[in-house]
Parts: sequence; C-alpha cells; structure tokens
Amino acid sequence: MMRVEEILGKVHGLPPFPAVIHRVTALLSDPLVSADSLLEVVKYDQSITANVIRMCNSALLAGAQRVSSLKDALIRIGNRNLIHVILSAGGNDLLRKEVPGYDLGRGELWKHSILCALLAESLCDVVEYGRKDKAFTAGLMHDIGKVVLSEFVGRQYREIRDAAQARKTSFAEGEVSILGVSHAEIGGRIGEAWNFDPELVNAIRHHHAPAEGEADPLLFLVHLSDVLCMTGGAGFGADGLQYNVDYELLKRHAVGPKEFELGLIRLVEVAQHFHGIVAMYD
Ligand SMILES: [Fe+2]
Ligand SMILES: [Fe+2]
Repeated sequence: MMRVEEILGKVHGLPPFPAVIHRVTALLSDPLVSADSLLEVVKYDQSITANVIRMCNSALLAGAQRVSSLKDALIRIGNRNLIHVILSAGGNDLLRKEVPGYDLGRGELWKHSILCALLAESLCDVVEYGRKDKAFTAGLMHDIGKVVLSEFVGRQYREIRDAAQARKTSFAEGEVSILGVSHAEIGGRIGEAWNFDPELVNAIRHHHAPAEGEADPLLFLVHLSDVLCMTGGAGFGADGLQYNVDYELLKRHAVGPKEFELGLIRLVEVAQHFHGIVAMYD
C-alpha cells in the first residue's frame, strides 16, 4: 500500500465527531441564543455533562458548594466557559494524547490548541468576524492532523527537517516532500470526515499556507493565532522553528508590528483565562 493511502486510512479509523456539537454550533449561529436552549441540547450527552460538572467542582473552584446539575453549573461558570467546554468536547480525547513524532508530551498539543482557540475567538473583533464559536473550533482543531501524522513523522523526522531546511520551506512542506501529505491536509480530511462546514475545513487545511486556500477571515484568524502562539512560545513542538509566516496576508489585514504586539498581549490574557479553566480537565 502507498504510504499516503496508509496515512489517509488512519483518518477513517478515528472516532466519529459528536453530533451534539454540530447541533450546538448550529444554535450558536444565532447570537441571541439562550443558555437554556444550549443546555436542552447537551443535557442528554453524558460526557459533556460530566465535563461541565467536573469543571465546576474542580480544585480551583473548591470551597464553593458542589454542583450536581448542568443548570447549577451554568450559574457557576457562566455562558462563555460553558460554550468552551461543549465545543472542546469533540477533540479533547485526541488532542490530549502524547504526540511523540512532533516531540509533544501528553497534554502539550491540547494546550497549544486551546490557546489558539481562545486567541482566535478573542481576535474576532480585529477582523470583524461574527462567529466566535467557529473561530474557537477552527483554532482548536487546526493541528488535529498531527495526531494521525505523528507516528509517520516520528519515523522520518530528520529527513523531513532536512528537506525543509534544504528548500528553505516550512516543516509542513517538508512533510509533503517526504511523506506525501502534511498534517494540515490530514486535518482537512478529518474535518471533512467529521462533516465540518467548508469554511472550517479550509481554515484547518491551509493554516500553514493561507495563500493556497480560499481567502477567508476564518483562515486568516487561525494563521494569525497560530503565528502568535508560536511567537509567544505557546506549546509548539519539533516543527516550531520551521514555520512560514504569510506576511503579505498580515499586511493585507493591516497587521503591522504594533497590531502584532497587541496580539501577543491578547495571548497573555487568554493564557491567564486558560490557567483559570485548566483544572477542569485534570
Ligand atoms: Fe500546524
Ligand atoms: Fe499550530
């Protein structure tokens, strides 16, 4: 079997994406959606309910009365955190695994992904993008392809790195030249298999080379957030030093040094928020 086929075959071996999250995303397209209607959709999902309640009873929030229902949980953690917990539920198990091919220990890819998700959501106002939930999901899932590609990258890491260095390209392009496919493309295939909408798939598939995708504010948001995470040292792995930034795209969106610095300040802010919520998953 060709290696690309072998790699793509692994995509179909992944667990399905929870349908309940698609229903939540559809609801969130209405900015005035009530928390009650979200709860109505997720209350039958045991794993999301358990996660929300665990978050509320985490060490961080200990001391307060323990919560035992989704309704109480919502009052404790607020709408925004509730949405984060629900939207993260579909990727958590995969993203929290160790990704040794990229030299990422257990939880490191997840940390990078959550920070990128929170940052993309926070930067929505910069590009006047109205779907914060989609920005969060795109940021969360942009590197999901690494979960599949890790074992193949692990076997040929040096060759990929050297190929990228010799051609002065990114590690992701090195993946294409040695393995025939990049983690970004694999992520796009995973998004398709999970019935993500084309805008999300485009943002995941082209996050390293946005010029090759459909010009779209969501793709820009994910590229920018990923670049800011790399610059801020937020959870990059073995590929982090071979990263191509699309400066043309940044310029087109009026992101110069001053805006970039503001983006890094936003990263610090979301990192603080992240440390506030991280206890829920431990
Ligand atoms: Fe990536
Ligand atoms: Fe990334």
